[in-house]
Amino acid sequence: MANVAVIGAQWGDEGKGKVVDWLASRADIVVRFQGGHNAGHTLVVGNQTYKLSLLPSGVVRGKLGIIGNGVVLDPQALLDEIGKVSAQGLKVTPENLRIAENTPLILPLHPALDRAREAARGEARIGTTGRGIGPAYEDKVARRAIRLCDLAEPETLSRKLDELLLHHNTLLRGLGAEEFGKDALLAQLLGWAPRLLPFMEAVWERLDEARHSGARVLFEGAQAVMLDVDHGTYPYVTSSNTVAGNAAAGAGIGPDAIGMVLGIAKAYTTRVGSGPFPTELHDEIGRGLGDRGHEFGTVTGRRRRCGWFDACMVRQAVKIGGIQGLALTKLDVLDGMAELKLCVGYRIRGEVVRRLPSAPGAQAAAEPIYETMEGWSGSTRGARSYADLPAAAVKYVRRIEELVEAPVVLLSTSPERDDTITLRDPFAG
Ligand code: GDP
Ligand code: IMO
Ligand code: MG
Repeated sequence: MANVAVIGAQWGDEGKGKVVDWLASRADIVVRFQGGHNAGHTLVVGNQTYKLSLLPSGVVRGKLGIIGNGVVLDPQALLDEIGKVSAQGLKVTPENLRIAENTPLILPLHPALDRAREAARGEARIGTTGRGIGPAYEDKVARRAIRLCDLAEPETLSRKLDELLLHHNTLLRGLGAEEFGKDALLAQLLGWAPRLLPFMEAVWERLDEARHSGARVLFEGAQAVMLDVDHGTYPYVTSSNTVAGNAAAGAGIGPDAIGMVLGIAKAYTTRVGSGPFPTELHDEIGRGLGDRGHEFGTVTGRRRRCGWFDACMVRQAVKIGGIQGLALTKLDVLDGMAELKLCVGYRIRGEVVRRLPSAPGAQAAAEPIYETMEGWSGSTRGARSYADLPAAAVKYVRRIEELVEAPVVLLSTSPERDDTITLRDPFAG
């Protein structure tokens, strides 16, 4: 099966956007299947930098982008993003973007609830992006979401808004936040309708056609395995399944169509938001990684927490996510470091384990067990062939492969699209 699913193998921001953009030259369709505009994917092409949150990264390559039903869609955020990339010369029309008719919408009351809840949590806050992702998914599973197709039925909209507002205004009142009125929301939804409905279709039919015609589909994951609502560091996670298995349900295609699962991992670890991070560095080394790696959240602007590569955690992500090959990014950020550490397991309350358990107390208590490797003084920045890498860098990559039990099939050596080393073609399976 010549399809590829790209997922994050850590806590997000591994460079999925760059890798998807790079692979998109070989794909016909790029599909987002989960998450929303909490994602921030940066693509650097020559002197242009594109920051995408909702648009599938394939649109930059002129490929057909699909937003699947597994995504939660903020209409205003999408329209703003289309406006932003148009100013950069990219045309987004119903010719190159299709949105599943059963996609749930994020309405202004969702970010309001998200932020009111975070404020109420105080010190225990999750550190969400505040974009209403969690509340929108809650409404979806509670069967009260407004979906894209509802915009075509004003009478359905009116009825559903009554139910939605009864629920949300009760919650917002309880949290001391401002309530929402029906008339304004209805007017907003009806205002979006003519701008969004031209993008709507039954994308499952298009994907079925693609399957029969042999077109190549690239499934673009957002967030990462350790932010997965089931398998991540719960409750410090996002509200969707980020594993490749969700590409099938989140797009409307069978699991056999997912193809090769490519996990993206940084050569070190970062995390935005709260929650356990066993290999986090609070010293000069951590700050150095953050500075050299420009580790600031694309969406939040917050400084990302930085630490050593956690091979134990990535191995877990490989197993859970069904990752068949890894793209290792940001190797260049390690240039010039005398010594590197790889986490190979944890000591938790005196016991040595090779997995991060699910209980929050045990996760918080996990102390990393490190293996130390020699760094390199040469440069990997911009390398486009394995032969250009210093021997110690190759050794570091090889050791990661052994520890995480997956081959490294791509290496990224700068933010620039073409600074990528291919060791194995993901589309070849
Ligand atoms: P995503 O959310 O997984 O798509 O990742 P982000 O785009 O949020 O964050 C990754 C950041 O690293 C972006 O600023 C990229 O331009 C940058 N980046 C990606 N690959 C590399 C790389 O190999 N080296 C360096 N130095 N930066 C990279
Ligand atoms: P990409 O696709 C990194 C984090 C938030 C927070 C938690 C829950 O760019 O890798 P949410 O708003 O989703 O309810 O927040 O998840 N988070 C991300 N961290 N990269 C992302 O996306 C993220 N999307 C959400 O910081 O800790
Ligand atoms: Mg990101």
